[in-house]
Amino acid sequence: MPEISINKDKQSIYILGIESSCDDTAAAVLKDGKIISNVVANQKIHEEYGGVVPELASRAHQQNIVPVVDLALKKAGISPKDLNGIAFTEGPGLLGSLLVGISFAKSLSMAWQIPLLPVHHMKAHILANFIQDETMQLPKFPFLALTISGGHTQIVQANDFFEMKVLGETLDDAVGEAFDKSAKIMGLPYPGGPLIDKYSLEGNPLKFKFPKPKVAGMNFSFSGLKTSILYFLQKKTAENPDFIKENIADLSASIQYTIVHILMDKLKIAVNETGIKRIAIGGGVSANSGIRKALMQAEKDCDWEVHLPKFEFTTDNAAMIAMVGYLKYQYKDFGTLDMVPKARMKF
Ligand code: KG4
Ligand code: ZN
Repeated sequence: MPEISINKDKQSIYILGIESSCDDTAAAVLKDGKIISNVVANQKIHEEYGGVVPELASRAHQQNIVPVVDLALKKAGISPKDLNGIAFTEGPGLLGSLLVGISFAKSLSMAWQIPLLPVHHMKAHILANFIQDETMQLPKFPFLALTISGGHTQIVQANDFFEMKVLGETLDDAVGEAFDKSAKIMGLPYPGGPLIDKYSLEGNPLKFKFPKPKVAGMNFSFSGLKTSILYFLQKKTAENPDFIKENIADLSASIQYTIVHILMDKLKIAVNETGIKRIAIGGGVSANSGIRKALMQAEKDCDWEVHLPKFEFTTDNAAMIAMVGYLKYQYKDFGTLDMVPKARMKF
């Protein structure tokens, strides 16, 4: 198990984490890397629009942030003066959403005189695998991280907590978008990823065949898949208007099968090229049962060591932000009050 505490004076470290990069307002408190509270407020408002509306997300964050942070502190049973640091998502994400979290974190930092800890959202999805939990084995370095969310699809080589290298990424849509857009074409509400996963359980994954993109190396592409599903369904529904309804399980299973294969093919390339067989996943799509099953199978067939985070740490949450804050605090890697949100952010 890697040493993740360099806390020499043995006093407990309390970190408040705030996450507001997309459409979830979240706050969590970690004590020495262990969760003592974890609160998420989801924004239902986007469902009726079939996707996240940035302006509405920002407004909802403004409404949610005070009660969410307040509840996280109350559930943790601590007062602000116990906190050692305030971690917040600096980027990448929606500017208006990030701005709410950053502004609030800065105000608390000024009012309570507590240092700021800026966090990279995608690194947090990877380091969520280190949230201390007796039931889980923590990954050792180096490992390969497959980060799959609504905004990102990357294969990252993690050599250390803060030494990470992107080996491959999507050239167009993220894998979560591929799920959500396919679901939208089938008339399912947003976010459609979990629904495709649910319908897949009843369906035949080999019933319909969708093409895999021809992208070299470890990069991904998902826009072609979405287009091929659209054309296929336009043709089929012209012949039979009830085609989707009658085949929703098989369609879902076939789409999920194709996406999972695309991810696994690239991961296998990464393992071959780096010789690293230790795999961790992160991001909302890592809740998907198909990818989890495929990874467990690869653990048996290919002798991989696979680390799957708990479901509550796969989608956006503030515990992962507080986790990175906890590590940065120990390295005294603090932020400043002139920090601004970053829609795009280098690794
Ligand atoms: O990491 P996340 O919560 O937010 C972003 O940073 O994007 O990921 C959200 C994405 C959405 O696209 C959602 O449809 C997808 O994760 N997702 C799933 C599943 N659960 C969430 N996709 C497929 N299967 C799931 N079970
Ligand atoms: Zn995310």
